Amino acid sequence: MNISPEIRHFLNTPIRIGGRSAPGRLLIAPMAGYTHVAFRELMAHFGGYGLLFTEMCSAKAVPHENPKHSLVFRWRREELPNLVCQLFGADASIMAEAARRVAAEGFFGVDINFGCSVAAVCKRGAGAALLKTPDRAGAMVAAVRKAVSVPVTVKYRTGWADDPGGAAEMARRFEDAGADALTFHPRVAPDRRTRPPRWEYIGRVKEAVGIPVFGNGEVFDAEDVMRMLQTTGCDGVSIGRIALSSPWLPAVWTRGPGAGPPVGNDLYRFCAKRMMDLMRAHFEPVTALRRYKKWALFFAAGFRFGHRFSADIRGAKDIDAICAVIDKFFAGDPERNPRPNMHLFR
Ligand SMILES: Cc1cc2nc3c(=O)[nH]c(=O)nc-3n(C[C@H](O)[C@H](O)[C@H](O)COP(=O)(O)O)c2cc1C
Repeated sequence: MNISPEIRHFLNTPIRIGGRSAPGRLLIAPMAGYTHVAFRELMAHFGGYGLLFTEMCSAKAVPHENPKHSLVFRWRREELPNLVCQLFGADASIMAEAARRVAAEGFFGVDINFGCSVAAVCKRGAGAALLKTPDRAGAMVAAVRKAVSVPVTVKYRTGWADDPGGAAEMARRFEDAGADALTFHPRVAPDRRTRPPRWEYIGRVKEAVGIPVFGNGEVFDAEDVMRMLQTTGCDGVSIGRIALSSPWLPAVWTRGPGAGPPVGNDLYRFCAKRMMDLMRAHFEPVTALRRYKKWALFFAAGFRFGHRFSADIRGAKDIDAICAVIDKFFAGDPERNPRPNMHLFR
């Protein structure tokens, strides 16, 4: 199914976020270990999105981080106008200091992570843990707001109880504290994507605030994009894993029939190879190999026999071996899955 012309027009309509304007309403969500500088360069090759988010960056590290050495706090100058840096941390003043560095470097804006529910982050009192203490979460947004004039956005999830009213209340708190936009992922912490997201809660959050709300969670195809927008009334859509799997999709969705990149085996092979080149250009060989293998799992989820491809990539000892796996797999003109293989997609 194609995106309807009305929805395409909507996705291409710029949206005001604080004092700046994002050129489109399709966002590429932050993903730790994945939305690094190499992946973002691949995405930029295709385009079609409004904003891209970095991996979550530790607020403690950011003020002193050297972008030449950091794996996560690293960027290409040309991507900054559409790039939001996501920060996580437990302390409002440390977050504010990190936000000042982000703003000084020229990012589009700062995003605050209140969604991550992995134990390593939550036990330090950061990420979704802060949703247990709404006062502290609000104070953190207010501190970051006060520290910078660039857009301040918040990404959060339903909370620790399945309570849409609580999520709407949290949205109001973030808005009152000075957030310029919200990305809302309607799942309870610590659910790591096992149950379906409750999209109907996105509508509740949207109704609660005047700032833009981007819906997030299991948008995998054109029909999902349209259904999320039409059923929730949200202002835009944030996509995560499907962008890893099919980086060309934002371009296909927003440019319309015939105007996006021609989708087929040549494109898939190009992506697999280009990603390798970009990893090598941006990272040391060991990191490039490790990060490529992680990404390949999501990329493989788009193919009918992707598990075989993914296992072969995982077993490859070096970059030459990976290139041989890619050549062999695409020589067979592999079949695409209509929806990603969820066993590879967790
Ligand atoms: C591997 C992985 C890493 C993620 N890392 C982050 C992160 O650093 N910050 C964040 O706010 N969300 C993170 N998320 C959550 C995603 O941004 C998104 O909310 C989630 O994947 C649901 O969207 P999707 O169904 O479109 O993938 C991560 C998700 C995945 C799969």
